[in-house]
Amino acid sequence: MPLDNNNTDAGNNILSVSGLKKHYGAVKAVDGVGFSIQAGEIVTIIGRSGAGKSTLMRCINRLVQRDEGSISLCGTEIANDMSHRQLCEMRTKIGFIFQHFNLVYRLSVFQNVMHGRLGYMPTLKGILGRYAEEDKEKAYDIIKSVGLEEQLYKRASDLSGGQKQRVGIARALIQEPVLLMCDEPIASLDPVTSRTIMELIVSQARERGIACLINLHQVDFAREYSTRIIGMRQGKIVFDGPSDTLTDSAVAFIYEGDSQHFSEADSAGSLQKEEYAFV
Ligand SMILES: Nc1ncnc2c1ncn2[C@@H]1O[C@H](COP(=O)(O)OP(=O)(O)O)[C@@H](O)[C@H]1O
Ligand SMILES: [Mg+2]
Repeated sequence: MPLDNNNTDAGNNILSVSGLKKHYGAVKAVDGVGFSIQAGEIVTIIGRSGAGKSTLMRCINRLVQRDEGSISLCGTEIANDMSHRQLCEMRTKIGFIFQHFNLVYRLSVFQNVMHGRLGYMPTLKGILGRYAEEDKEKAYDIIKSVGLEEQLYKRASDLSGGQKQRVGIARALIQEPVLLMCDEPIASLDPVTSRTIMELIVSQARERGIACLINLHQVDFAREYSTRIIGMRQGKIVFDGPSDTLTDSAVAFIYEGDSQHFSEADSAGSLQKEEYAFV
């Protein structure tokens, strides 16, 4: 069944994950995770390093094979045994933004962004770089909307960190995804650039009606830019709620073991674990 942005069977459900497990040897990287994302939601996942945030994302777009559980996108199951063609089709519907940008640095901004269209093209045309005029126009419009029209023919290697991430965003947007997954999109950027990049991701997602799932380290950014926050600890979801319900004590619980957050909670004297283990 083709993936459809307006799949009526799925209603507004963009992504559904249930009972998801992935282990590496003795490490339970993702340990029984379940949640859904509705159209229009901007969801951030917070948690310590090693909590399982990246593994969760990699399971969703099948960069990593899960051990157990089910994942569906717009009502279509992302099966472990789906064909290569189905997998490619599914991946065009999920835009991915990386911490380290993952650009081809010897190529121009324009060429990097056009790579986002490859999933829609026959392989040979893609290899030869024979893009349709319509796709080129689309690329130009998107490059303009992320503020890089002046850099169109610049080599990716000559861009600043913020500009590189703008290319990453444009490359994801040109896929016309239903879901945008961003794994630590601002972790390699300075604080001022981080803010402009978060604003760009969220505003573009809203404007284009794309749901977002964002792994973030910075709790303050998560609170500010998302509609909902999921807290992960040791492979499990330990908090799932609207951003404004994430109290400092809940943060301390999610980051348990992190001395900075522990002392914050201790001084408040209000750490009630059960209270915040919503899930
Ligand atoms: N490819 C891998 N091989 C072995 N262990 C891994 C691999 N990927 C992740 N892990 C382990 O799984 C756990 C979760 O990692 P990860 O998903 O990267 O966490 P996060 O993104 O929250 O920092 C960690 O203990 C990590 O060491
Ligand atoms: Mg990670």
